Order: sequence, then C-alpha cells, then structure tokens
Amino acid sequence: MSINLELPKHIAIVMDGNGRWASSKFLPRSSGHLKGLRSLISIVNKCKDIGVSYLTLFAFSSENWKRPAEEVSSLMNLFVNVLEKEINYLVTEGICLHVIGDITAFDSYLQSLIKIAVSKTSANNKLHLTIAANYGGRWDILQAVRSILDQNNSSILSNCDNDYDLFVSYLSMSWAPDPDLFIRTGGESRLSNFLIWQLAYSELYFTDVYWPDFNTIELEKAIKWYKSRERRFGKTSEQLLDGCKG
Ligand code: FPP
Repeated sequence: MSINLELPKHIAIVMDGNGRWASSKFLPRSSGHLKGLRSLISIVNKCKDIGVSYLTLFAFSSENWKRPAEEVSSLMNLFVNVLEKEINYLVTEGICLHVIGDITAFDSYLQSLIKIAVSKTSANNKLHLTIAANYGGRWDILQAVRSILDQNNSSILSNCDNDYDLFVSYLSMSWAPDPDLFIRTGGESRLSNFLIWQLAYSELYFTDVYWPDFNTIELEKAIKWYKSRERRFGKTSEQLLDGCKG
C-alpha cells in the first residue's frame, strides 16, 4: 500500500456541534456560535501557518433559515461583526476571502461588507478562505445548470469533448481544487448538502468533538489521519506503486 504523506491542499469543514456544546454548559445556543467563531479563527490561522492553500467552512446552510429567528439573527450579527473587525487582519495576513452561496438573501449591509472584504483581499494568495453562507450543494449544481441554460450554452454539454470540465467551470468553487480532506465535527456522519459534487473523492473524517472544542491539536489529528490514507482515485494499490517507480 502506498500511503499519502502530503499535506492536504484543500480542507473543507462542517463546523457542527455549537448548539450541543452550549447546552452541555447550560448556555444559550448563541454562546456556542460565539465560541465556534473563536475555533474558526484559530483553525484559519493554523491552516495559514502550516501551508494549507484552501480552507472552506460551512457557516450557514440554505436550510439554516428554518432555525428560530433569534438564532438566525445571532448568526448574522456574528458574521457582520467578524467582517467589520477582521478585514484588516485578512488583508495583512495574505488571506483571500471568498464567499459561496446565495448572498442576495442577506441584508444589504451584510452583502456590502462581504463584497468589500472579498474585493480588498482578492490579490492575496497565502490562504484561500471560503465561507459557505446560504449555501447548499444541490443549489450549487442547479445554479450551474441555470447559468448554462441562461447563456444558451446547453449545446456545450453534448458537443464538447470537455463537457465535464466545462460543467465544473460553472460551479461556485470552480477556481479551487476539490477538497482533499473533509472534516465534520459534532458526531454526525453525513455531508448535509455541503459541496456534494466536489467531495466525490475527498477523504472523510468524522469526529465527536464539538466545533467549539475543535482546536489546532484536533486539526493536527485529522491531518495525521489524512496522511495515513491511500488515495487511489479508482486505481489499484499496485498501479499507484508502479506510478511511483516511473
Ligand atoms: C452548526 O452547529 C453550526 C452552525 C450552523 C453555524 C456555524 C457558525 C460558526 C462556527 C460561527 C460563526 C461563523 C461565521 C462565519 C459568522 P449547530 O448549531 O447545528 O450545533 P448542534 O448540532 O449542536 O445544534
């Protein structure tokens, strides 16, 4: 077996367990999200420092609107606060911010903060930090299909030898390689409609640790586990070993 000792280029995370972390401490759910934001900042820093190139975080799914209004508004306020406070940090640390999802559903102030942060950091390339907000993997695939139809480009899908690459170019994260490592905290073992196209060949790591307790040591554990995986992409172990010799 040939194991893969490389650092993942792209890590995607479902940051789950904020609510249960808060309940276990008899705190309101919003405290769990606030503590979750601290974990987010420390994981972003760590990824930047160790040389991960892409980090994609699921902050708010298209389905999260169904939560109590008070919780939705506390999440929106956190998003506003972090953008107001951390833009300069992102700029100076070389972090390029991307936001994927339908942000037109957010209030206009949040939309404008997102646009400013994305534009101010667009020349950075130390770490590409993507926040998925009002995002869903099925929405992503549908918006790609709609864009192709809108542009009267449906013929490309039947006429072109490169129809796969062309389709991918319409997805929200077309500019990034697919995630190598997917992490989900909080004990559930599902994708929950996150990057469902892009995760086809990712290594999937599930941990019971709640997101607010997910620290840099937990990240190192996940990366160590990833490095022990053999990534075959449909090939056999023998073929991979032969490839190494060649
Ligand atoms: C899932 O935990 C977490 C979320 C829906 C929100 C994630 C948000 C943050 C980590 C902080 C804010 C981030 C930004 C970018 C503003 P859950 O609430 O579903 O936890 P539970 O499953 O224990 O109820």
